[in-house]
Amino acid sequence: MTEIGSQAKVDSLRNPVATGHPPQLAVIVPSFNERGNIELLYEKLAIALDETAWEMIVVDDNSPDGTATVVNEMSRVYANVRCIRRFGRRGLSSACVEGMASTSAPYVAVIDADLQHDEAILPQMLEKALAGADLVVGTRFAGEGSAATGLSATRLSGSRLATKMAAMIAGQPISDPMSGFFLVRRDIFENVAPKLANDGFKILIDLIVTSERAGKPLQIAEVPYTFRPRHAGESKMNPLIVIQYLGLWASKLSGGILPPSFLLFGLVGVTGVVVHMATLGAVTAGLGGNGALSSETIFVAAQITATMVAMTWNFFLNNNLTYSDRKLRGRKLVIGLLGFYAICALGGIANISVASGIYELRHQTFIAGLAGAVMSSVFNYAVTRAFTWK
Ligand code: GDD
Ligand code: MN
Repeated sequence: MTEIGSQAKVDSLRNPVATGHPPQLAVIVPSFNERGNIELLYEKLAIALDETAWEMIVVDDNSPDGTATVVNEMSRVYANVRCIRRFGRRGLSSACVEGMASTSAPYVAVIDADLQHDEAILPQMLEKALAGADLVVGTRFAGEGSAATGLSATRLSGSRLATKMAAMIAGQPISDPMSGFFLVRRDIFENVAPKLANDGFKILIDLIVTSERAGKPLQIAEVPYTFRPRHAGESKMNPLIVIQYLGLWASKLSGGILPPSFLLFGLVGVTGVVVHMATLGAVTAGLGGNGALSSETIFVAAQITATMVAMTWNFFLNNNLTYSDRKLRGRKLVIGLLGFYAICALGGIANISVASGIYELRHQTFIAGLAGAVMSSVFNYAVTRAFTWK
């Protein structure tokens, strides 16, 4: 390489727009099975951000369709693209958190990979942040914004309800708190990052409420856009994600005292009681016809079956809902299930000893029973969190 050639090379590396380094803006793209979208998204971002030093960070949960391979191939062509690939993990919120934490850019944006968000408003969003906003939200529900083209009627009414619920905890008016499209100053994000919940889809509302609770309410600006239909692939939204959102919402409503995972664990426990009673009824009825068995024997057999069924039910529901971000699989699933039985047995002992202790002090069946149940729930939650889903 000649002297001049190498100098040109060095100079070109100093051109922040051309190399995207050091980036002014990092665009975080959470992805799961987005192979058919990611290159087009990059091209559209490159056009929208042609006057900005930017980088694209795709956070991919080892998508089976090979999204990460496509991104890595793109990285060999474009200097401002990289992929964070996670194994054995799932979750939109945690993917966003890890992407945002991995950049040196002073501003970070989050955008969906499926081209539903209009990347063309990013320069406007950045401008608002440069002008002093802590957080700039791409909104479908204000001004020129619209969601009608990108959402089904059911999704639209669900989204409206979720927006109203979010308003109850946000502490300030915001037209689209469920937006997955926003731009934030990195230091603002870093202030609250350790306190953000990792489960669910709702990173934005979490960011707003957590900052508010920390005594640092955010100055929020909005930029309207039209929500587009998904380009390729399928949505990952499902009923579990809705329940996870309810968990986050109830947790924030409690002032953050009760973690979402505890609320979900409790909810699972309530469904477990229903399963228990249904199994008890079914087994009792099933064995009832057998004249050889005494009613006590039938009850004990039915109670044991119901307990096993309910524990198993609770285990799988917690594994898929409460701890979907650290779901146990294969050998770990079997070991986890056996451990779960053991922990629940200890929880049962804790339940009975607390309940009978209280009953001895004050002969109130209801209070003693409730105290025992609360005791074992807290015990089971704390211990399974430490050992089963650590
Ligand atoms: N890494 C990772 N892990 N990414 C994920 C995961 C996951 O478990 N689940 C979803 N994603 C990525 C998708 O690949 C996509 O880029 C983005 O997150 C949004 O997922 P979609 O499946 O397209 O969600 P949606 O279109 O139903 O929901 C969007 O609109 C909602 C409002 O209606 C999202 O933007 C939500 O955040 C938003 O609330
Ligand atoms: Mn989508």
